[in-house]
Amino acid sequence: MLAAAINPNLATWSVGPVASEIERQSVQWIAELLNYPRDAGGLLVSGGTIANITALLAARRALLGSAIRQHGLQNGPVHQYRFYATPETHAWLEEAVDIMGFGESAITRVETDELLRMDTAHLSACIARDRQAGHVPLVVVASAGTVSTGAIDPINAIAEICTQEKLWFHIDGCYGAAAAVLASAPRDLQHLGLADSIAMDAHKWLYVPLEAGCVLLKDKNHLIDTFAHETGYYPVSDEQNPLPVGYRDQGVQTSRGFRALKVWMCLRQAGREGYVAMIGDNIDLAQRLAGLIGKTADLDLRYHGLSIVTFRFNPGLEVLAEITVADQSEPDSDDLLNRINQDILKKLQAEGWAYPSHAHIGNEFLIRVCITNFRSSARDIDLLPAKVVDLGRSLI
Ligand SMILES: Cc1ncc(COP(=O)(O)O)c(C=O)c1O
Repeated sequence: MLAAAINPNLATWSVGPVASEIERQSVQWIAELLNYPRDAGGLLVSGGTIANITALLAARRALLGSAIRQHGLQNGPVHQYRFYATPETHAWLEEAVDIMGFGESAITRVETDELLRMDTAHLSACIARDRQAGHVPLVVVASAGTVSTGAIDPINAIAEICTQEKLWFHIDGCYGAAAAVLASAPRDLQHLGLADSIAMDAHKWLYVPLEAGCVLLKDKNHLIDTFAHETGYYPVSDEQNPLPVGYRDQGVQTSRGFRALKVWMCLRQAGREGYVAMIGDNIDLAQRLAGLIGKTADLDLRYHGLSIVTFRFNPGLEVLAEITVADQSEPDSDDLLNRINQDILKKLQAEGWAYPSHAHIGNEFLIRVCITNFRSSARDIDLLPAKVVDLGRSLI
């Protein structure tokens, strides 16, 4: 309400100096929470997709030089550039390579281990194979908390490979990076500072109302090199009147609203301690749910990462065989379980009793619970497994 009433424009520093400083401080505080360098560059954007795309645009400019801004990909010999990521990476990556002009075929998919984390031996093999084929590797994208299961790619090992291979290291931490605030954070989350760039969503696990994403770059000059344009109509900095670089020169947007105020207020209200408590609680609840599912007959716990738990109703082969005699499908096929679990989820959502989402991993349709609400309580969690089993049994 305040931001709407004041309605500053954060395009250039001089038209919104106080608001710009509030954004600068919010970005700096987010960097501190993530153990990212305090002097990193960065800005707030609408969400994680745009934060990730902004980082990759900066990577493209940093790796391919200033000519890319003048001539695009039509400058010089045509190369097959390559971006490396696992199949678990969120779909923003397809959008990014598409709109940057590389095309989706520029993504080399790296295999994952049994916990759906990037297999770094395969990453090295892919880079070597691509170089041998004459392609030009550019960027490795790691996830710090994948969208489906909360898997964290091996940040340290990937950082080493990027250094050796001279590749840009980007981390998509939209969902999980905020958990770096915990002293008990998984080891790889404690090393986000190894990345050249990070995208994170304040509107996910910093509990800020939509829309609030954040992109961080270790070297702030990359943003300016990528996005600054001189014009005859915006204020320019000179020796007599030096001005901080405005946000229109650091991102895609020109006119920009005061989304920083809500981010700044949440950060001030909760503080580091508040986030440690709230994020820690969410993770404990996920742990509790995973434990309950593990103990509940007819439920299979599939994956558990940070505050995400995926599972499915599975009454076992004997029961499935009886159903499939009637409908003539394979008794142990995932198809049947997928259909049952889809129906369970539809019913749960329609009733409004709880609203889990879903994940597709391999051939399996899974029920997915992602706890990023500080009002979620043990009571919500404790009732869910039995409810899913009841619904499942009523459907077979
Ligand atoms: C890991 C990850 N990356 C990126 C995104 C996209 O973020 P946004 O919806 O804010 O654009 C999401 C959204 O769920 C996500 O979980």
